[in-house]
Amino acid sequence: MKKKIAVLPGDGVGPEVVDQAVKVLDAVGDRFDHFFEYCYADVGAIAIDHYDDPLPEMTLETCLGADAVLFGAIGHPKYDKDPNAKVRPEQGLLRLRKGLGLYANIRPVTTYPTLLHLSPLKEEKVKDVDFVIYRELTGGIYFGDKGRDEKSAFDVCTYTYEEVERITRLAFEAARQRNNKVTCVDKANVLETSRFWRDAVTKIAKDYEDVELDFMFVDNAAMQIIQWPKQFDVVLTSNMFGDILSDEASVISGSMGLLPSASIGIKTSMFEPIHGSYPQAAGEDLANPMATILSAAMMLESFELFEEATAIRTTIRHLLERGIGTAELALENKFSCSQIGDMIAYLLAESASINLTDQSIAQRLSTII
Ligand code: IPM
Ligand code: MG
Repeated sequence: MKKKIAVLPGDGVGPEVVDQAVKVLDAVGDRFDHFFEYCYADVGAIAIDHYDDPLPEMTLETCLGADAVLFGAIGHPKYDKDPNAKVRPEQGLLRLRKGLGLYANIRPVTTYPTLLHLSPLKEEKVKDVDFVIYRELTGGIYFGDKGRDEKSAFDVCTYTYEEVERITRLAFEAARQRNNKVTCVDKANVLETSRFWRDAVTKIAKDYEDVELDFMFVDNAAMQIIQWPKQFDVVLTSNMFGDILSDEASVISGSMGLLPSASIGIKTSMFEPIHGSYPQAAGEDLANPMATILSAAMMLESFELFEEATAIRTTIRHLLERGIGTAELALENKFSCSQIGDMIAYLLAESASINLTDQSIAQRLSTII
């Protein structure tokens, strides 16, 4: 298979984690006989520095001309202090979402047995947690009319049936491949848009009678995610609630550095780690590249390369089980960002014969890296 991938490394640790994902994609290409062509483009603070624009036209065109987008991270501390700044890196991301029509943000929350102790929740609550959030990404309060005068301000929240329907169908399809349950999270006791979502989702659910559907108010969901996260399979929700709940859910697994995401687009889809640009660590080769590499696995799945995606996930799981990871995971064997990338690429290229002996780990895998 031949695919063109737009690569947007962005800011902070973005470039170094993206480099590792590209390494791993190349290893997958070698082993499974695919060819990935990469087109690099700027986005975020780096694009502001170069072009005075967080999403230059050229970058959007590169993305639109590609089969998928691999995204690193955006954000720089110089913009964080002033939310009123006219040009901000986040605008690049929001415009990219609109420009590519990225209507569904998918964030899986997975746990790893050797990392349960890193979770702020008790181990017995976290063990076997496995759910996925489907967040609507191009509608709602984020993109409604906004305004202010001296005495007041407003942000309008609007949803059309079509906007609700396309993400709802994706969520139900996903549930069919998982544990057959969708929880739609809203604030239908207060908001008209939420009541509209409920009606639409209830109607669409008739096409998926094999999937269980329940509704939960967002305040309750925020509590349940902490109290009993195992109850969830697919969480379906609007843009703003999804933003908040997915950050809450991201801490369950113990490390932000392990969580990938996919944003499904009308034309091109985008894949990115959920962590930010972590500017303090930029250029230090210590960020965890696994979230970006797992995002690349989600990209492969979108190409219907399921075996390839599974090979990446199995390799990462195996490394974590053997106590191998970047420093923040505080495992037995600490490696740098690029070493983890090298290792995963090596193990993939060598086919599934992953056989790390204690001795090779002790030698810091010197034969490999
Ligand atoms: C996210 C982020 C963005 C959002 C910001 C950076 C605009 O928090 O991707 O979740 O709110 O959607
Ligand atoms: Mg967010």
